[in-house]
Amino acid sequence: PLPPRFRTPLPIPPVKRPVRSDAHADHYEITQRVREIEILPGYRTPVFGYDGLFPGPTIRSRSGRRTVVTHRNELPVPTVVHLHGGNTPAEHDGYPVDLLYPEGTTAAHQHTGMTGDTRHGSREYVYPLRQPAATLWYHDHRMDFTAPQVWRGLAGFHLVDDDITDALPLPHGERDVPLLICDRAFDEDGSFRYPSLDPALRHPPGVTADFMEGVAGDVILVNGAPWPTMEVDAARYRFRLLNASNARRYRLTLRPNPRGGDGFTQIASDSGLLAAPVRHSHLDIAPAERFEVVVDFSRYPVGTEVVLGNDLGSGPTAEVMRFVVARKAADDSAVPARLAEIEPLPAAAARIRREWTFSRGEVHGHRGWVVNGRPFDPRRMDAHPRLGEVEVWRLFTDLHHPVHIHLSPFQVLGRGGRGPGPFDHGWKDTVDVRPAEYVDVAVRFENHAGPFLMHCHNLEHEDMAMMAAFETR
Ligand code: C2O
Ligand code: CU
Repeated sequence: PLPPRFRTPLPIPPVKRPVRSDAHADHYEITQRVREIEILPGYRTPVFGYDGLFPGPTIRSRSGRRTVVTHRNELPVPTVVHLHGGNTPAEHDGYPVDLLYPEGTTAAHQHTGMTGDTRHGSREYVYPLRQPAATLWYHDHRMDFTAPQVWRGLAGFHLVDDDITDALPLPHGERDVPLLICDRAFDEDGSFRYPSLDPALRHPPGVTADFMEGVAGDVILVNGAPWPTMEVDAARYRFRLLNASNARRYRLTLRPNPRGGDGFTQIASDSGLLAAPVRHSHLDIAPAERFEVVVDFSRYPVGTEVVLGNDLGSGPTAEVMRFVVARKAADDSAVPARLAEIEPLPAAAARIRREWTFSRGEVHGHRGWVVNGRPFDPRRMDAHPRLGEVEVWRLFTDLHHPVHIHLSPFQVLGRGGRGPGPFDHGWKDTVDVRPAEYVDVAVRFENHAGPFLMHCHNLEHEDMAMMAAFETR
């Protein structure tokens, strides 16, 4: 059932309140559970939801303020929670075998967690958040089953604020809007359709052969609603765009684009503010990437319907949502010419250079995806970076792979020997490595020693072993 477009008002995920705050931390509690929600009008869709919601509730933290989230697992499957973009101690980063089992699960199909602390029922994740303001997100990271579990709903925003961003005159309050964009396919009865090899998510990981490249759907959801509509004032808005799709890339455009064609003013990337705003006529956004943009709807006459389109889609997937410019309104916001101080990492002096090749390969006798020719093994560390030292990593590829590095953000130095591309500005944690191209990034890991991941964020590729582990020290 393909629902009508532009009928549902844009939902905004609720902001979670702490259950308690003390001198050291804000404490939150989230229950992961199955719930039936209405996504397509007139249908019930069972989701795996944080608090039964899809997307999950938004957590909003201050930079440097410790945030403790206790997750309780009431789902029929083990889970792992990862805060994507967080500078997080290894034991709280959601290493893919540090599983949280539902209460009462038998020991029969348990792995041992990397840090030996596989849990039952609930566990605490501690986030020091010693990092600048940014649009982070949290999602499932269970080894071999991340893709189906995120597809069923396990994803939400975690926003970090700081004094530097608060001091800027950017649009705020109702005009600071998170947009989680993803695609889904549905069965006749309204349930999510996903081509898992094992629908119970117990034994063989991965997807049927036709979906090696990744699973895409024909319905585009924003904040969990199909092709929603948002009424806006003729004023500036800040949008925090997140591509939470398993495998789909988007080229976002405004239709019509305002005169001049540069409808998006980018102010932040994955890991925080840019040094200065950058104007774009369109945005290429790969899975897990975030772009924060300001759109000024006063450039349109009142009454204009502005579609957020996707130039990489066709038919229903060529559109994402719609804005209706409803009324004139006061606006004291501005986009300053300088946003933040960004220290260029001294890449030329880097002593350590590493190469990582993302390609097809053999995974335990089956076709899969590998890094440097090898499938993921959670016990094998492929690099031992030193904390505080700048390294240059070269990412090679056969096809499109959105490569994500845990723990610390990086700066894109160039693509295929040329300079960085138009969407590579600022601190990033995910970069779209394109066919037959390599990307050089400079990275400096900070604060936490232990095992961390780097992997393709096409979630089907990730489940089919396109991950590698490194251990900082
Ligand atoms: Cu968004 Cu390792 O993940
Ligand atoms: Cu990939």
